[in-house]
Amino acid sequence: MQLDDNALLVLKERYLLKDEDGTLLETPDGLFRRVAAAVSRSEDDTPDGCREKMNEAFYSMMANLEFLPNSPTLMNAGRPYGQLAACFVLPVEDSLDSIFESVKLTAKIHQTGGGTGFSFSRLRPKNDVVRSNLGVASGPVSFIRVFNCATEAIKQGGTRRGANMGILRIDHPDIEEFVTVKRDLAELTNFNLSVALTDNFMQCFNEDGLFPLQNPRTKKVARTIRARELLRLIAESAWASGEPGAIFLDAINRANPTPHLGEIEATNPCAEQPLLPYESCCLGSINLSRLVRERDINWERLSELTHLGVRFLDDVIDAGTYPSNEIRGMTLGNRKIGLGVMGFAHLLIRLGIPYDSPDAVQTAEKLMRFIQKESKIASGRLAERRGPFPNYKGSVWDGKNLLQRNATTTTIAPTGTLSLLAGTSGGIEPIFDIHYRRILLGGIEIEVEDPLWREVKSRPHGKDMRRRLFRGAYSIAPSGHLNIQRAFQISVDNAVSKTVNLPETATVEDVLQIYVKAHRMGLKGITVFRNKSRDYQILSCGTHQ
Ligand code: CDP
Repeated sequence: MQLDDNALLVLKERYLLKDEDGTLLETPDGLFRRVAAAVSRSEDDTPDGCREKMNEAFYSMMANLEFLPNSPTLMNAGRPYGQLAACFVLPVEDSLDSIFESVKLTAKIHQTGGGTGFSFSRLRPKNDVVRSNLGVASGPVSFIRVFNCATEAIKQGGTRRGANMGILRIDHPDIEEFVTVKRDLAELTNFNLSVALTDNFMQCFNEDGLFPLQNPRTKKVARTIRARELLRLIAESAWASGEPGAIFLDAINRANPTPHLGEIEATNPCAEQPLLPYESCCLGSINLSRLVRERDINWERLSELTHLGVRFLDDVIDAGTYPSNEIRGMTLGNRKIGLGVMGFAHLLIRLGIPYDSPDAVQTAEKLMRFIQKESKIASGRLAERRGPFPNYKGSVWDGKNLLQRNATTTTIAPTGTLSLLAGTSGGIEPIFDIHYRRILLGGIEIEVEDPLWREVKSRPHGKDMRRRLFRGAYSIAPSGHLNIQRAFQISVDNAVSKTVNLPETATVEDVLQIYVKAHRMGLKGITVFRNKSRDYQILSCGTHQ
């Protein structure tokens, strides 16, 4: 097995089974055996069935580091917890019962390594009436603090630190407080915040109009604000502290496969997975770096891995346990899965293509179109044998008369830990740098040398490759990042995890222009991060070259 030192360190710290004294009870190979066996238990084990065959196929694609499911599946499959999904969205209605019910579920989800997202847009604003003048409301931001404290107290009991996404619509009266609260770096440390931008708002911005903020309880306009002023405030915050991110709510809902069940209001913590309240989703990623054969993509194996990945993730839905009946009901009702890729930057380097080039964009488009198409074929075949997802009737797929087992099949995850395990570049990001420092779960700091750089640096053309192909995230222009995000998004059902890394010298105006461009491109969300804008940064460039 080709696991490097950092991968082994992470596996030992968090993934491999241990006894109470911390003695390891399994090997990395044993981990992949455990996961394959637990997931293939969803397969038919009659003499005609293919449980044993799938068990072997699942094991071998993981052991070869060609495909890895999200961390909770690696950690929990075949263990007592058995909770396998990384992504959850929970409802937050405008009542204390609903808020604290969700706090409780959040605690359970974090215990098992899942991440939670919430829309706080339904909460009445600060100083609004509570029970006809008996008191005043404290507003969404104060309730986000409640979730943040609960997360702090749980710290995911030994698996990983709880991650949350808090979302507020741009037309909520508390929007200014929301978009500036994290300028104080001590605030809401267990939350990513994203503002939900609407097409209406972006139009108002373009026309330099006054934008109405509306009380969600009374539906009355509370006041108006100049759209340009508000988006600038958001850009200033993102420039200063990397938060908030933005999601484009209308683009997300145009792609909602089950509009008959309601509108989507929120996403998981890293924003790549929009979900309805109580939905959860398991992600899995194909390692593209392993798929280069004679300077071309190994399309045959990519097709096999896509079919196997869809089947694996569909099996995960039935193999997993769920923190509540509502979550089980919604998850099994839509059967959303999120198959994606990691190692895209390494693939490009192996093919000799610079990341910010028209060739890279073309490769991205072609690659994802292929995966998307194959994933639909795979999900269609499963639907013939196992039946379509239970909420199929009335869905977008029903409208197209296309039988599908899963309401969605594709998502591009960040693959923060998975890419480290697989020894490749994260998701569809450019390499961060050839050397960098990274803070792992639990605060351990490690030095990372890009694994592909390590492989090629002593070759005769090493220096030339370094200049042309091994360009770090900060040396790619914003348009280069956006073009790749768009190329993937075109053929992805859910969303795409992507960060536009900006050099320290970037301006607020640069950030603003990125929002406008991202919206025009039809993206579902946008994250910018200006170098050194936070004291504590998970990735930072290395000192030695
Ligand atoms: O690589 P890994 O499977 O560990 O995770 P990822 O691809 O970086 O993140 C995928 C999703 O896992 C995130 O969007 C979150 O929903 C969840 N996650 C989490 O809950 N807590 C973390 N510390 C990291 C990720």
